[in-house]
Amino acid sequence: MPGDKSISHRSLMLGALAIGETRVTGLLEGEDVLATAEAMRQMGASIVREDDGTYRVNGVGVGGLLQPKAALDMGNSGTSTRLLMGLLASHGIIAAFTGDASLSGRPMNRVIEPLSQMGAQFTPSPGGTLPLMMDGCEPAVPMIYRLPVASAQVKSAVLLAALNTPGITKVIEPVPTRDHSERMLKGFGAEITVEEADGERHIAVSGPCDLTPCNIEVPGDPSSAAFFIVAALLVPGSDLVIENVGLNPTRAGLITILRQMGGSIEELNAREVGGEPVADLRVRHSQLAGIAVDPAIAPAMIDEFPVLFVAAAFANGTTTTTGLEELRVKESDRLTAMADALRLAGAQVEEHDDGLEIAGSGGEPLHGTSDAPVTTHLDHRIAMSMAIAGLASSGGVEVDSTDPIATSFPNFMDLLSGASA
Ligand code: S3P
Repeated sequence: MPGDKSISHRSLMLGALAIGETRVTGLLEGEDVLATAEAMRQMGASIVREDDGTYRVNGVGVGGLLQPKAALDMGNSGTSTRLLMGLLASHGIIAAFTGDASLSGRPMNRVIEPLSQMGAQFTPSPGGTLPLMMDGCEPAVPMIYRLPVASAQVKSAVLLAALNTPGITKVIEPVPTRDHSERMLKGFGAEITVEEADGERHIAVSGPCDLTPCNIEVPGDPSSAAFFIVAALLVPGSDLVIENVGLNPTRAGLITILRQMGGSIEELNAREVGGEPVADLRVRHSQLAGIAVDPAIAPAMIDEFPVLFVAAAFANGTTTTTGLEELRVKESDRLTAMADALRLAGAQVEEHDDGLEIAGSGGEPLHGTSDAPVTTHLDHRIAMSMAIAGLASSGGVEVDSTDPIATSFPNFMDLLSGASA
């Protein structure tokens, strides 16, 4: 599997803030991560790719980011945008953030609000979106922030702002989200503590702090593995080993749910890579059964719902999902996009405000009802999910564009052709 997208972004950002050389192996070379690399270069970091794919990052030190001379083009990447808004908010620089049509429709007020409390000033487009201008504040003001929405990006934005903020900045997380920022900040020597109190996570960073360079081995991305896991479960006769899958518990919700549905997923060769649990997964074709998915698991599989909806379309019985309002503000509105796409492919889907209800085919191939291609709305995960649906459909599925896949999984098509050989 290609490197984890979340960890790849953070490796470059933290490496760019450390003084000295950080070496990163297994970095995801998707467009989103390359957008982060380019932005860090624009602010003074040196990021060099060696012939073997290792990246050498020489940072500028916390507080040492330079004023970028041009707008920071974030492409399709919400993670680059929101984390960098945090990182820059406590530096005395002015930056413009731009992005593609999908990113320019996504809400930024969720980061503008806490970062404004810390002293940064923002001029977003109407509706709180990109393009926006940010005027950072140095020294910024520390604060205690309780996350109003379960979002690792918002949490990380505040924690990254805290690095160059004098005093203790604390984020309180009522619902745990992916914890790569916390793990990696520790690895880079930041003063960070994580405590549980009354069922909530309290994460405190004491700034300003220096970061020490690291050697990072990026584990494989469970969100990319998800497409192959579901493909193997759905296609009769499959027996697939997927190597190098990150299994951080804050990311592994899809595997839990697919096992509850009756999926045969075995963990082999469990090990640790870059401070994260990793295993190879052996996945065999299984007849899945529909379930009611517990909404509490959503943050641990937030990017995997599109492909879970595909799995549900082939299950015995009905799968219901609730509590998924956040899916409407991803790279596309993933509830509407997947309901439309699956219906076009011949599945029975009801869309509700906060989730989908899908009546499965009982393992029978889907038959599309129209020749029109599925609309992917510049969303890589819609394109890949529907490619997997196509594998288990009698006439295949046509998607309008495979271009968005390059944002997170550039060799997806090659791997998929290889796996189905
Ligand atoms: C990410 C957090 C999640 C996820 C995104 C990556 C991260 O977003 O959907 O793909 O790396 O922190 P939210 O924080 O908006 O849930």
